[in-house]
Amino acid sequence: MFKIIIIHHINIQITDRQRTREWYEEVLGAQFLDRGPALNKWQLQLRIGSSEVRTNDVDQAVEVPRVFAVEVEDWNGVLWNGALLYLEVLGVSYSRSTGGSYSNIGGTDPYEGRREDTGEHFTYIRDPGNNLIELVYHPLGLEDLHGTELGLTQDTDNVCWTQIPGFVEDSYKAESAQKW
Ligand SMILES: [Fe+2]
Repeated sequence: MFKIIIIHHINIQITDRQRTREWYEEVLGAQFLDRGPALNKWQLQLRIGSSEVRTNDVDQAVEVPRVFAVEVEDWNGVLWNGALLYLEVLGVSYSRSTGGSYSNIGGTDPYEGRREDTGEHFTYIRDPGNNLIELVYHPLGLEDLHGTELGLTQDTDNVCWTQIPGFVEDSYKAESAQKW
């Protein structure tokens, strides 16, 4: 069978690229991935952590109950000054409910939940296209199959899938040469 190493990207439906890009940059610290004019026209591609989010532009999104979850580095840490407080500063509403329905698991706090098995913290937010995103944090971290604690295998601040050097620059040049 395949040995999957990571979920590389997910696709979300959106109606407004600019708002989507700004929201993902501000709230999730996403980075715009410049793919050159042809691919940029086709879709917006953003890096979050070591994975990517890509967009499908639609006039009206089909509602999907839950879209994806991202692991936050430190829920209570200095960088975010507390994940929930950070969301409040940005004016992003959050809830333990998945779009209105509460399950009995994860505690009774209406704003954030805890999973019994891992102590995982979770809350749900919505992007400007109404996609429901879960923020999670695992205070016990990662371990291998023998229970040995592991660090993250990627440096999520700097990781990026390697592009062919010069591809983007060359494709812009080719595009402007075509125009004149
Ligand atoms: Fe979930």
